[in-house]
Amino acid sequence: MEVKKVGVVGCGQMGGGIAQMSAQSGYRVAVSEINDELLNKGLAAINSSLTRSVEKEKITPADKEATLARIKGTTDLKDFGDCDLVIEAAIENLDLKKKIFAELDEVCPKHAILATNTSCLSIMDMAMTTGRPDRVLGLHFFNPAPLMKLMEVVRTIVTSDETVEVGRDFGQSLGKTVIIARDAPGFVVNRLLVPQLLNAIRMLEAGIATREDIDTGMTLGLNHPIGPLALSDLVGLDTLLFIANSTYDEFKDPQFAPPVLLSKTVTAGWLGRKTGKGFYEYK
Ligand SMILES: NC(=O)c1ccc[n+]([C@@H]2O[C@H](COP(=O)([O-])OP(=O)(O)OC[C@H]3O[C@@H](n4cnc5c(N)ncnc54)[C@H](O)[C@@H]3O)[C@@H](O)[C@H]2O)c1
Repeated sequence: MEVKKVGVVGCGQMGGGIAQMSAQSGYRVAVSEINDELLNKGLAAINSSLTRSVEKEKITPADKEATLARIKGTTDLKDFGDCDLVIEAAIENLDLKKKIFAELDEVCPKHAILATNTSCLSIMDMAMTTGRPDRVLGLHFFNPAPLMKLMEVVRTIVTSDETVEVGRDFGQSLGKTVIIARDAPGFVVNRLLVPQLLNAIRMLEAGIATREDIDTGMTLGLNHPIGPLALSDLVGLDTLLFIANSTYDEFKDPQFAPPVLLSKTVTAGWLGRKTGKGFYEYK
C-alpha cells in the first residue's frame, strides 16, 4: 500500500514534529487539535522549527514554504477522510486514545492504517475499538521527532505483516532507523529508560545529590548526552507521570511507581521545558 496522505492527531510536542517531518518528506498532512488556539500554537511551533532549519541552512526558504503548504491544520477529524495512515499523538491517556481510535475508524478509509505514538499504553486495547485491528500498530517516535534517528514499530498479536511493513517503510522514508518491538509496556526503549528517570527523581527526593550532580553523574560518568532530570524536563513531566502510572497499573512493578515529587511537580503545573519550568528553569 502506498501512503500519500498522513493524518496526525494532536499538534503538541510530538504531533507537531511528526507532522513537520512527514510534510518535509513529501507527504500531504492533516494535523488536528482540540481547538483553534492549540492548533495555531502547534502550527506556529512547526513554523518556528522550520525557520530554525532555514537559519542553520539545513533547508532552503523554498523548502520551508513547500513543507508548510503540504500541512493542513484542522479541528475536525472528518478531514482525515482521505488519509492512508493516521498517527495519533494526543496525550498519554488510554481512555482518550480508545475514543480517538473509534472515531478514526469511522472517518478513515477502510484501507487506512491507524497508528499510535503512545509511549507505553496497550496498543491492543486501542486496536480493539476499531473494526480493523490488523491495521493498527505503534509508530513510536522520539523527542524531538524531527531530530531523533530512531522509530519503534510496535506490533500487537493481531497486527498484520503488511501493516508492519508499511510502518517500517514509512519510518525509513522519514530517514529513521526502525526497530520492531512487541506490544508490551514501554516497548524496548522506555522499558529501560523510564525506571532510570524515576530513580533519578527518587534520588533527588531523598536528598542523595543535587539535580546538577545527578545529571553530571550520568553525562560525564556514562557519556549520556543529557542527564536524567534534564531529560525528564524534555519529555514533559506530565507525560512521564502518565507513562509511570499506566505502566505501574499494568505491571504492578514498583520500579514504575511514580515518586511523590513527580506528582507534586505536575500538580504545581511545572511540566518541564514546555512550561518553562520543571526540575530546571528555561527561558
Ligand atoms: N514527550 C515525549 O518525549 C514523547 C516521546 C514519545 C512519545 N510520546 C507520546 O506522544 C504522545 C503526545 O505526547 P506530547 O509530548 O506531544 O504531549 P503534548 O501534551 O505536548 O501534546 C499532546 C497534544 O494533544 C492534544 N490533544 C488532546 N486530545 C486531543 C484530541 N482528542 N484531538 C486532537 N488533539 C488532542 C493536546 O491539546 C496537546 O496539544 C503521548 O502519547 C506521549 O506518550 C511523547
